[in-house]
Amino acid sequence: MKKIVIAGLSVVGIVLAGDVEFPEGWRNMKKVEQGAILPGNPLYGIVPGYHETYMNDTAYAHFARYISDFKKGKTPPQFPKGSTVIFVNYKDKGQTPRVILVMYKTGDPKDEGGWKWEGFLMPSKKRIVKNPAKDCANCHYKGRKDWDGIFVPHAKK
Ligand code: HEC
Repeated sequence: MKKIVIAGLSVVGIVLAGDVEFPEGWRNMKKVEQGAILPGNPLYGIVPGYHETYMNDTAYAHFARYISDFKKGKTPPQFPKGSTVIFVNYKDKGQTPRVILVMYKTGDPKDEGGWKWEGFLMPSKKRIVKNPAKDCANCHYKGRKDWDGIFVPHAKK
């Protein structure tokens, strides 16, 4: 999100094409995973404590279809374009979000792994990702370029 000045008027909050939209309605998405990030986990600095992972219908259909392949260690096709997967980190046990991380599949090779990456501080929805490669994808793809960069199929369920 950029701050745009038009004829002296400052309009904050315009989402430019290419930006990841805030996933309004995320509470109605499908919950696929939950857990706690504890001290010692490299994620603890960004998203300490309780989290839940949600998917939109496009991502969930793929997840549901291929979860058994994932579990068997096979490499299923990549998540389809339009997939949204979010990671909600809470200040408490699931009432008050602290940060919402978003992966949105464009399939565009210019995006890291074909995903767009964003994080929103809650409740302000302030964007936190400056450099998706450095801030997010480096860790998701660490040492492995041969997968879809998404941990959730390897998680519980
Ligand atoms: C230090 C490594 C690391 C960094 C940095 C990181 N992630 Fe993750 N991310 C993970 C791990 C590990 C999980 C799975 C956690 C779990 O489910 O317990 C995860 C989970 C997620 C999920 C849920 C889907 C999935 O893969 O399980 C999303 C969405 C996500 N991260 C987005 C982001 C975004 C956006 C950024 C950049 C702001 C980011 N992550 C930075 C390691 C990282």
